[in-house]
Amino acid sequence: MSDILVEKSEGVAVVTLNRPQQRNAVTFEMWRGLAELFRDFDKDADVRSVILTGAGSDFSAGADISEFDEIRGGAEESKRYEVAVDAAGDAIYGVSKPTIAAIRGYCLGGAAHLAMSCDFRIAERGAVFGIPAARLSIVYGVSATRKLFSLVGITEAKRILYSANRFGTEDAIRNGFADGVADDVLQAAKERARSMAANAPLSISGAKFILNGCAKGEFDPAEAERLIDEASASHDYAEGRKAFSEKRPPRFLGR
Ligand code: COA
Repeated sequence: MSDILVEKSEGVAVVTLNRPQQRNAVTFEMWRGLAELFRDFDKDADVRSVILTGAGSDFSAGADISEFDEIRGGAEESKRYEVAVDAAGDAIYGVSKPTIAAIRGYCLGGAAHLAMSCDFRIAERGAVFGIPAARLSIVYGVSATRKLFSLVGITEAKRILYSANRFGTEDAIRNGFADGVADDVLQAAKERARSMAANAPLSISGAKFILNGCAKGEFDPAEAERLIDEASASHDYAEGRKAFSEKRPPRFLGR
């Protein structure tokens, strides 16, 4: 059985971290697999949005600490490990389609990075969040810390990182880490994914590029212009106008 499961249906891909006995702790191979998987979603026209979740009772308890002695033992190995973690986070963050983390149970450390790399985070009432890097003498990575800062602001980010304390769903909603609560997170994530999948993909990917650029503080205006022009010259722009005048829902193709 694979450690990462992928199921595609009605334009929505559901990616499931699948090590429930280890609370879906993410191994080095899984970080690498996630990066590859999300890069492939960009090229897959059948996928309009992606949900990331965990098998069993948890989203994930973070990086698999049991392999740290072997593959994250010293400074050099740690660097190589963190490159793989950031590659996974950045592939999720960069995929040009809406992404939703469906979170139940624990969402800790590196798993919080995965969740923050998604566009949205829907949590079950009993979910438990936290970044215990300060309990392991690890500096949480630059890419992950930047995502945390852009979601919760500087004071809350410092509180989360300095204290290493866990917090629940109510606090996650209050501080901006999560943006939705549901009794059945997967169902809620699917409903949200499907509602966005009906809209024009080029509009969404353009908005995502611009907003992610704002959040990162790194913006490529030429690429933003290219995306704006691509949408203006697209089949979907003509279809959107035609559907409006014919008073019917548009059928977008993403080109
Ligand atoms: N890495 C490796 N294994 C992990 C893990 C992790 N991050 N988190 C949980 N597991 C394993 C446990 O070792 C245990 O394995 P075992 O049954 O072989 O002993 C199994 O998953 C179940 O976890 P357990 O600790 O028994 O459950 P619990 O309910 O008592 O505690 C947690 C749950 C999440 C609070 C606890 O497992 C924990 O603190 N995990 C580490 C969290 C962390 O520091 N993550 C950040 C990593 S960067």
